[in-house]
Amino acid sequence: MNAESEKRKVVLTCAQPTGRLHLGNYLGAVKNWVEMADKHECYFGVVDMHAITIPYVPAELRKNVYDCVAQYMACGLDPDKCNLFLQSSIIGHAELAWILGCACPIGQLERMTQYKDKAAKHKDALNSGLLYYPVLMAADILIYNADIVPVGEDQKQHIELTRDLAQKFNSRYSETFVLPEPYIPKSGARIMSLQSPDSKMSKSDPNKNGTLYITDEPDVLRKKIMSAVTDSGGEVRYDETSKKGISNLMNIMSALSGKPLQAIEDEFAGKGYGDFKRAVADTAVEALAPVREKYIEISSDKRLLEEALKRGGQAAQKRAFKTMSKVRRKVGFMDFD
Ligand code: AMP
Ligand code: TRP
Repeated sequence: MNAESEKRKVVLTCAQPTGRLHLGNYLGAVKNWVEMADKHECYFGVVDMHAITIPYVPAELRKNVYDCVAQYMACGLDPDKCNLFLQSSIIGHAELAWILGCACPIGQLERMTQYKDKAAKHKDALNSGLLYYPVLMAADILIYNADIVPVGEDQKQHIELTRDLAQKFNSRYSETFVLPEPYIPKSGARIMSLQSPDSKMSKSDPNKNGTLYITDEPDVLRKKIMSAVTDSGGEVRYDETSKKGISNLMNIMSALSGKPLQAIEDEFAGKGYGDFKRAVADTAVEALAPVREKYIEISSDKRLLEEALKRGGQAAQKRAFKTMSKVRRKVGFMDFD
């Protein structure tokens, strides 16, 4: 490793407080954040302001925020090693979004893929927040001057917009923002539905058995894995084209146990799908049972969860204020104290 890659970076990512985390979220996102928290200065936000761009119930939003933080902490995000914060509790995100938005052509927002998808889905309740969503996301990132932003492939377009807005601001008002780099995990982290391995594991999978939740009971995990769709032929071999189901289970096993795919193939040479599935189920239960136990232990402890958000929020606010005082001065706003 060279000196540059060892340098401590500022890492920021955020997620909406939407329900239960599944194995795809865990392996494709949260597990990486936990590892990053050991090496970098990390800010992890729960974006409740983004969550109100679609119809919602306030009491449920609050409940989902607690639940989301409990799940992250159960996955190993340690509030002593990273800054967990609640977006709406930090002063500056909304203000910076306004300022950035004043330099963002409407057409650029109308072209965002996620906006077009959501606008089609919420035709009867289309609000301007939905259009403005990516500008608020840009503010979430730029207010911390983040170097690295871990996101899924679907958020790449929003990061490009963020870089664009940062560049515009820098050239109009002088160097202010770091241009953030997206960090998109390799394709190995793409976990597919157990029931239809052509599509990604997702909470909106119509077949409930296709999705493994990190807080599923061990019996439920086992049942879902044992009933996973497999392929014709009885060989445990990695082949993403003709053996999608088995390859997905191999990916899951490999990601959870650290065993290379080749070692899994060797271990199950001459054995059937039944033996292999039982072993995948054992691996999943072994990896996720402690997560579930921790979740049960902390999810009802509101004080603990609030303490974590408060502590992370203080660090986040300090950094946000620093950026905003520069930004306000540069754009010509005044402070009277
Ligand atoms: P979402 O649940 O779509 O909001 O995604 C939250 C995070 O989890 C993003 O970083 C995604 O890339 C990641 N993620 C979601 N589904 C999967 C999946 N099936 N495999 C790998 N990563 C996923
Ligand atoms: N839009 C992101 C998503 O749906 C969530 C998000 C909001 C985010 N603000 C962010 C992600 C800032 C990374 C950085 O997944």
